Amino acid sequence: MILLGRREGVLREVAARIESQCNVETRVLAMDLTRPGAVEELTCRFSTEDFPVDVLVNCAGLGQWGEFTESDVERQLRMVQLNAAALAELCLRFLPSMLARRMGGILNVASTAGFVPGPRMAVYYATKAFVLSLSEALAEEVRGTSVTITCLAPGPTDTPFLKASGQHHSRLYQWGAMPVESVARAGHQGFRRGRTLVVPGTSNHFSTFGLRFLPRPAARKIVHWLKSPVAPGK
Ligand SMILES: NC(=O)c1ccc[n+]([C@@H]2O[C@H](COP(=O)([O-])OP(=O)(O)OC[C@H]3O[C@@H](n4cnc5c(N)ncnc54)[C@H](OP(=O)(O)O)[C@@H]3O)[C@@H](O)[C@H]2O)c1
Repeated sequence: MILLGRREGVLREVAARIESQCNVETRVLAMDLTRPGAVEELTCRFSTEDFPVDVLVNCAGLGQWGEFTESDVERQLRMVQLNAAALAELCLRFLPSMLARRMGGILNVASTAGFVPGPRMAVYYATKAFVLSLSEALAEEVRGTSVTITCLAPGPTDTPFLKASGQHHSRLYQWGAMPVESVARAGHQGFRRGRTLVVPGTSNHFSTFGLRFLPRPAARKIVHWLKSPVAPGK
């Protein structure tokens, strides 16, 4: 198992836990996926080492809560680069060899945010709509082969992401978040069963299903309200 992220120390801790608990050989790669050429470098490294990737999990993501016009331009562009462009490039570079070997698959992490426009988090929601659409389209393209594409679309999940993205200031956050273990387990099971879309949690499942019957203007107004700031201390 290859673990990739920017913080090598954190990756090493996770790798040690995986090796001791699951008896799986791990490697750690400290890499910033938004760096130009990073994904290509990654692909070359594996082909030269003759180390085929059977399962690709695209989980790295970045978010930012706040008004579009008040947001940091660099951070928003980095978000597009990481959440959308790097993810698409990873699929483009690894999927052909999976198809050639007739094995493996990709698990892309989108979000329930991918189902609606997201006022006060516009770029993040747009990147997740991209991941959802790309994953569903690829799942159709590979149908009938031994390769599968799964899109995991979690709702709010209890990870450092919620605070790092500033969402703890918004109304939605006050309603709680799913434990990360349940979300990861649902994604893993869904992937193993070859499901195209996995929305963990009953309320997330019903809210994304209900969106099919809600007029889009109403949906974006509700999200705008959910993303509104709560008074400090509430
Ligand atoms: N938490 C939620 O409420 C929630 C809900 C729906 C969907 N999601 C999605 O779930 C995924 C995982 O998020 P999380 O909640 O686990 O957030 P997290 O705790 O902030 O984890 C983000 C991960 O992405 C890695 N990463 C960030 N920037 C990177 C970069 N430039 N290059 C390589 N790796 C990078 C981070 O490692 P380093 O910092 O070491 O690079 C970390 O492992 C994201 O795609 C997110 O959009 C989260």
